[in-house]
Amino acid sequence: MTEEDFQAECIGCGNKYSPDKTPYVCDVCGDLLEIKYDCRRIADQLSKLGWTSRSLGVWRYSELLPIQDSKEIVTLNEGGTSLYHCRKLGFKLGLKNLFVKNEGENPTGSFKDRGMTVGVTEALRIGAKAVTCASTGNTASSLAAYAARAGIPCVVVIPSGKIALGKLAQAMMYGAKVISVRGNFDEALELVMESCDQLGFYLLNSVNPYRIEGQKTAAFEICEQLGSPPETLIIPVGNAGNISAYWKGFKEFLSVGLSKELPRMIGIQAVGASPIVNAFKRHSEAIEPVQSPETVATAIRIGHPISWKKALRAIRESKGVAESVTDAEILYAQKLLARDEGLFVEPASAASIAGLIRLKDQGEIDPNETVVCVTTGHGLKDPETAIKSCEEVVEIGRSVEELADSLKVPMKMPATQA
Ligand code: F0G
Repeated sequence: MTEEDFQAECIGCGNKYSPDKTPYVCDVCGDLLEIKYDCRRIADQLSKLGWTSRSLGVWRYSELLPIQDSKEIVTLNEGGTSLYHCRKLGFKLGLKNLFVKNEGENPTGSFKDRGMTVGVTEALRIGAKAVTCASTGNTASSLAAYAARAGIPCVVVIPSGKIALGKLAQAMMYGAKVISVRGNFDEALELVMESCDQLGFYLLNSVNPYRIEGQKTAAFEICEQLGSPPETLIIPVGNAGNISAYWKGFKEFLSVGLSKELPRMIGIQAVGASPIVNAFKRHSEAIEPVQSPETVATAIRIGHPISWKKALRAIRESKGVAESVTDAEILYAQKLLARDEGLFVEPASAASIAGLIRLKDQGEIDPNETVVCVTTGHGLKDPETAIKSCEEVVEIGRSVEELADSLKVPMKMPATQA
């Protein structure tokens, strides 16, 4: 890809930046940037290439990625994750065509790897002296792995005591410098964004548009795996980069002539961390940040999502909805998916299934529509929460009859909140 094939554009004021002078946010108005392509030219290029023989994964779609010189791609074979037809769970919920795109199958166990292969390749291309991010865990572990692969020093900033242990173990093992801050994710991100330029570190949070470019390839894959886009896509939302990336992906696939429709985008947040859902339900143009976000789904414990504007735009443009789910609903959905389909995902990922259950109850989902739920991270990322949610402690002295009785207890659906 050459420099003329793409440029970054501000989503607020429309100011344009050439690839070599792309800041993280707009110099003029401070809004987020988005990479734009000459889709007509790419469509023409694709029609002449034998790209369909490439294996499924992020780099299958290199014509739609903003890397100018692809001599040194930093990769761990990310993408190409399974799309499971969940017949048993679908039957239980009254849905004929329920699919799960299982992003926990990526090399470090989350969807973040799709963005990091592109983002760290760009970091290497521009000669970054170090890479950095703030994280609820998965961004940190993914960046640490790709930085190790590229041979670039990595500094990750995490909210102290608030991230799942598997993720912390990964970041440490891959050799990142881990800095814990006494504060939440939003405060950690503010700190990293303020200090990265001064330190000369390359920032790889999803405010960086290169991350979004890698992540959008999951939408391309779904279109190819299903043969067309689904009618509805349900996805967990935290800092809101991923839902924005999927929407961009579905729109680009349409623009280059590889699909004919667009899905409805449904974003799910946890009740205790749901500023985007609140704004959507209030018909508001802007979010009100949640000061002390709280949820068992630590990956999405975020009160001030940086990409809220892109996310609200995706939901509204696609005629979708935003909904929140309780921790009890999340933990229930996590167990259901594991026990009905053999898919063990982390709590934040199960939010998409919990959201589906709630919206089906509300009549928002038709039994015949094709629904894809995105599960974003592997269950082993957070073993502590899984064990707590499944552990059955037996009191010494209980009779055999009592034990047998407890084994017969069916799982009950938690009452949904009003
Ligand atoms: N699911 C998982 C497993 C995540 O790790 C995240 C975000 C999300 C969903 C939400 O995605 O932020 O693009 O809306 N984790 C980030 C992190 C914030 O630091 O690992 P989003």
